Amino acid sequence: MHTDAVDRLLSTTSPETDEVLDEMEAQADREGFPTIGHEVGAALRLCARLTDADSVFELGSGFGYSAYWMAPAVGPDGEIVLTEVDEDELDQARAYFERGGYADRAVFEHGDALDVVAEYDGPFDLVLVDHQNERYVEGFEAVREKVAPGGVVVADNVLHSSGDPGFEPEDLERALEDGPPEDDESSLASIIDYYRRVHDDPDFETTTVPVGEGLFVSVRV
Ligand SMILES: C[S@@+](CC[C@H](N)C(=O)[O-])C[C@H]1O[C@@H](n2cnc3c(N)ncnc32)[C@H](O)[C@@H]1O
Repeated sequence: MHTDAVDRLLSTTSPETDEVLDEMEAQADREGFPTIGHEVGAALRLCARLTDADSVFELGSGFGYSAYWMAPAVGPDGEIVLTEVDEDELDQARAYFERGGYADRAVFEHGDALDVVAEYDGPFDLVLVDHQNERYVEGFEAVREKVAPGGVVVADNVLHSSGDPGFEPEDLERALEDGPPEDDESSLASIIDYYRRVHDDPDFETTTVPVGEGLFVSVRV
């Protein structure tokens, strides 16, 4: 979504990575695993720092890449709850967190994120919505009451989808005006439903942040 120079700058001017994060990036490249990517990782760390986050909840953690970006901002007394349906991915996340020295602030929950969140009271300072696009609205509904005032809900993959079929920002712009095309099989309709849900919620203020595949950042006001 940016010029090549902006892409490079977003990468080179973001916080330093450690060797564990570099290894996670190499794994994602090797396996074609859809992590949030470096730019979004840095933006999430920024959100965690700005909200002074003690409590983070993640819907869809994979092997822990996005959570690992936030871990230094949460601090040893904080908590990040990782949720993942794939047990093998979650085991890898645990191993990466142990190697990086962040396991003390992480809880690894195997299962459907929507079931897991029901077991937590919150308040959460930051929630990452990155599981299944079709269930983003459900994810927001499940966490909204548990988000602290001033806390944020960040949803990934909202401006572009490299799925098959995917969509581009132009498709979203058109669909927000006219509704998604009838034959559309991409996640466009789910993203529009999510946008309308968060936008229409008087307790949240939503801003689009064009990094990676695009974020909606909804602050509980
Ligand atoms: C796009 S990946 C992102 C992973 C991670 N946030 C990252 O950036 O590396 C989405 C992950 O969510 C997991 N997932 C999908 N539906 C889920 C659900 N209902 N509950 C928990 N995890 C889910 C998938 O198995 C996959 O690993």
